[in-house]
Amino acid sequence: MKIGNVEIGNGIFLAPMEDVSDLPFRVICKKLGADIVYSEFIASEGIIRHSRQSKRKMIIDPDERPTAIQIFGADVDSMVTSAKIVEDSGADILDINYGCWVKKVVQREAGAAFLKQPERMAELTQAVVEAVNIPVTVKTRLGWDHDKIIAVDVAQMMEQAGAKAFAIHCRTRNMGMTGNADWSWVPKIKEKVSIPVILNGDVRSAEDCKIAIEEYNADALMIGRACIGYPFIFHRAKVMMEQGFDPGEPDLRLKIDTCLEHLRLTVDHRGDHGLLVFRKHYSGYLKGYYNASSIRRQLMEFTTYDAVRTVLENYYDELDRTDKLEPISKVRTVQKLSCESGAYVKKQTADS
Ligand SMILES: Cc1cc2nc3c(=O)[nH]c(=O)nc-3n(C[C@H](O)[C@H](O)[C@H](O)COP(=O)(O)O)c2cc1C
Repeated sequence: MKIGNVEIGNGIFLAPMEDVSDLPFRVICKKLGADIVYSEFIASEGIIRHSRQSKRKMIIDPDERPTAIQIFGADVDSMVTSAKIVEDSGADILDINYGCWVKKVVQREAGAAFLKQPERMAELTQAVVEAVNIPVTVKTRLGWDHDKIIAVDVAQMMEQAGAKAFAIHCRTRNMGMTGNADWSWVPKIKEKVSIPVILNGDVRSAEDCKIAIEEYNADALMIGRACIGYPFIFHRAKVMMEQGFDPGEPDLRLKIDTCLEHLRLTVDHRGDHGLLVFRKHYSGYLKGYYNASSIRRQLMEFTTYDAVRTVLENYYDELDRTDKLEPISKVRTVQKLSCESGAYVKKQTADS
């Protein structure tokens, strides 16, 4: 199956996540098995102003492709102009955010605000589709609240407007990030549209990926929080989809090597500031291992890549010498992860 001219592969995608799905993380996720990686959302107004931040967020590394760049905004003209800029920057797919639930976005009539006016969503999607040659996908939620679940209708409208795939975060806007994602809407949407439907929300394991595709009939799925600090979920999911079993927890050597590669890419991409940006990832990579929180605290202090590498290598050698390379607590089961930065998880409930 394809999204426009882009192959879906096993259908395991990296979800767009502000301050997380940046270029270095996308490269790592792709390397570990993600089929398509989505960027964090970029404001159309920033793209038009050619702001430094937007330009950085639009950079794509050849090793991460195929890459979808996600944009958000309320104004049709600005979205059309920014979509063309994104296309010129070399994105493989352009994604429109119709799902961001946070107040500052919704108040500006962007993100999930479109769920209150689906006709406006159709108009914008059609205008963007007509303006670019790359495939346009959309990501939204089930509806504004439980009384107004409109995902099936919206999916049909998006297909008619020319969207090449429909990603559905199976929560309402008013749920924010709380409660459970309701995947039962995915087969209902699938019955009504022929474009690929991408399931999102609470996919937390390789087994979940299999269930989403085989039991809920999703064409693909997006993994968000479960891959923060744990990109290995993509490898586990890939093996599950291709060979039918979960290869299990990777060993600490691979985790440390991946952490260092991720940090190296972040420093290459962001300069010294990359060491600060990276801090949120340490706990995920070291979670469950002996003395990990004290090591993580030490790592927070360092301002050079070499210092971090020395501490991590010494840590590994010490665990190896004392026969403690196995995790002392469960590394990943069903988890509730959040990310320190980013508007998406600052508040856990919506305001209205
Ligand atoms: C830190 C963080 C940042 C996010 N940023 C975006 C974003 O920029 N664009 C978007 O469409 N969704 C964003 N989301 C929502 C995720 O893409 C996804 O829909 C949500 O986390 C549910 O999936 P999950 O249960 O796999 O995490 C963000 C979520 C988190 C946790």
